[in-house]
Amino acid sequence: MIKEFLTSLFESPKLKEAKSFGHLYESIALIAREERCSEAWMPHRNQCKKFILESLKLSLHFESVLILGSGPIHEIPIEELSKKFKKVVCVDIVHLKSTKKRVQHLKNIEFREHDLTESESELTKGILKTVVPTAFTNENWGLVLSVNIMSQLPRHLEEYIDKNFKGKFSEEQVNAYLEMITQNHLRYLETFHSPVALITDTEVHYLDSNNKMLENHLEFQHLKLPTPKTEWIWDLAPIPEFQKDIAIKMKVRAYHLNNRNSH
Ligand SMILES: C[S@@+](CC[C@H](N)C(=O)[O-])C[C@H]1O[C@@H](n2cnc3c(N)ncnc32)[C@H](O)[C@@H]1O
Repeated sequence: MIKEFLTSLFESPKLKEAKSFGHLYESIALIAREERCSEAWMPHRNQCKKFILESLKLSLHFESVLILGSGPIHEIPIEELSKKFKKVVCVDIVHLKSTKKRVQHLKNIEFREHDLTESESELTKGILKTVVPTAFTNENWGLVLSVNIMSQLPRHLEEYIDKNFKGKFSEEQVNAYLEMITQNHLRYLETFHSPVALITDTEVHYLDSNNKMLENHLEFQHLKLPTPKTEWIWDLAPIPEFQKDIAIKMKVRAYHLNNRNSH
């Protein structure tokens, strides 16, 4: 906790939402969690990288690739993408200094900080309004990757509402709003004229110490996702990371979106 707090003092994120919505702190905490769970998370990281490398065959060209949800770049084969494409653009609401430093030897990587819901600034005014984002859609990407960000987008908004507007909205209003956030991410991905590879967790499994399922939460029942190309289990929180007698695993699915004009 103290280490995370101290690290946050040395970061100066470009977007004010990075701090006000807790993204900065969450990014620092994510790195600490990854260090604690590195062995359990390795198969998941490798599966993500493998799927991304397989998706290169869909690329329209190798001028540029867009990565949405680049974060600490742990699930992305960044060296290979840097070799393959002339330009690699990483987008996230916050990129830590340590992440940028780790890849500074790769000269064709660009970092862009952007709120990929394009809804956080409206929410600071107490308005539950969501849009289909438009950033980066005018550029001609060879390939677009959305890497484990879709389920994360509503989380910070939900926490922000809970902290700042408790009681202002009904539970139904908040749930409908949060569902629209992920719906709009999917619509956003569908507006690109390039092939899109989407990786996201889709189910959260709570298990007891005998690996018996206690609860299974399906995340995207409101969405029409295509048939996944592949899926795997992410050992997200082995005991005792979450609780001393409950583990969390997630079912991750990987998709190719057949966008118009992309083939
Ligand atoms: C699970 S992490 C992604 C990890 C990353 N794919 C990797 O390779 O290490 C989820 C990411 O979503 C980002 N994120 C959450 N809400 C966001 C938003 N509104 N706009 C942009 N990025 C956001 C977080 O900052 C975080 O880096």
